[in-house]
Amino acid sequence: MRSPQRTRLALLFGGVSEEHIVSLQSAAAVLRALNQERWDVCLVGISPEGRFLNEEDSAALLEGRSCKGPGGLPFLPEGTECVFPVLHGPGGEDGTLQGWLELCDIPFVGSGTLGSALAMDKSVAKRVMRDAGIEVVSWTEIRHRDYLADKEIVLSHLVDDRGLPCFVKPACQGSSVGITRVETEEELRASLDHAFSFGEWVLVEPALNAKELEIAVLGGPEPFATAPGEVQPEEWYDFSSKYENGTTELVVPAEDLQPQMIEGMQEIALRAFDVLRLSGMARVDFFIGKKTGRLVVNEVNTIPGFTSISMYPKLMEHSGIGFSELCDRLIEEALSRKDSPEESLPSHLQAEYGTA
Ligand SMILES: Nc1ncnc2c1ncn2[C@@H]1O[C@H](COP(=O)(O)OP(=O)(O)O)[C@@H](O)[C@H]1O
Ligand SMILES: [Mg+2]
Repeated sequence: MRSPQRTRLALLFGGVSEEHIVSLQSAAAVLRALNQERWDVCLVGISPEGRFLNEEDSAALLEGRSCKGPGGLPFLPEGTECVFPVLHGPGGEDGTLQGWLELCDIPFVGSGTLGSALAMDKSVAKRVMRDAGIEVVSWTEIRHRDYLADKEIVLSHLVDDRGLPCFVKPACQGSSVGITRVETEEELRASLDHAFSFGEWVLVEPALNAKELEIAVLGGPEPFATAPGEVQPEEWYDFSSKYENGTTELVVPAEDLQPQMIEGMQEIALRAFDVLRLSGMARVDFFIGKKTGRLVVNEVNTIPGFTSISMYPKLMEHSGIGFSELCDRLIEEALSRKDSPEESLPSHLQAEYGTA
């Protein structure tokens, strides 16, 4: 039964992206952390085919059991007052879902359509940050049709511009999906074909010899940036070292950083949060050159990993905000953002775009 004291919260998870499984892990951790006395949680699973599942099948998806039905078009359970999208990658973190939620006029955790879309495309996000004076990893962007038009010329330009070793990445993926560390020209060819299988645009960057540092940002009237944490993968932070083989160490807080460097990173993280038009939360990822000491931003994630061992909740916990309180604050922030006048829909539209 619905309790009048509780706010009805739809937890969205799964989805069509390559990060479906990661989303299930994140959502399970968020569900465990949510204070059931405050939040009347309803589960909305999205199948890998993009179908929205009913309550029973949503629970089955989350628990790794098989679903009875194929599900249907996007919907929210009756009475939903707020949505917590715990979805990673395309179709969940890239602004498409956020656009739908904005049309439904329902408050939701995290960034809106514009910020989500900007941050999802690594190349566009870097242009926006660079324009705001933020140093980012240098890169070349390539469009699939230009690559197909003259592969040999593109390959030789890439080797001249970026050198080897380099990193090849699809513009719009996460969790290291489609990314290759390339040592030779032959590998470059194969890795470009692989990266283009995920989308039209691909980035090539020089492989940096750098430490990887991450800062968590919590939005609100005065967004707050945590101390940095360090990711220490055995080689580079690929999909299996992120989620499968447990070989990566997360050091929170990062060690051996001068206070001035930490402050500088926090300022950059907050600036990136603003210029990319983000809200709610973000994780801003940096590299610091091991020899050069040069600080650059790698990327910004608008729905960072939320498993209990993920960096975002760990950084917040180190700042005194435990997982459960973190969820409270994210939802409260979403609800209060909805109350601010510039965010709300005109009243004639509010009547038309209700929840299902
Ligand atoms: N230019 C680079 N130099 C060195 N390592 C890199 C570079 N780009 C990416 N990496 C490695 O690949 C990982 C994944 O790349 P990233 O750009 O963060 O994509 P994703 O969105 O999939 O996390 C990084 O965490 C890092 O370990
Ligand atoms: Mg990353």
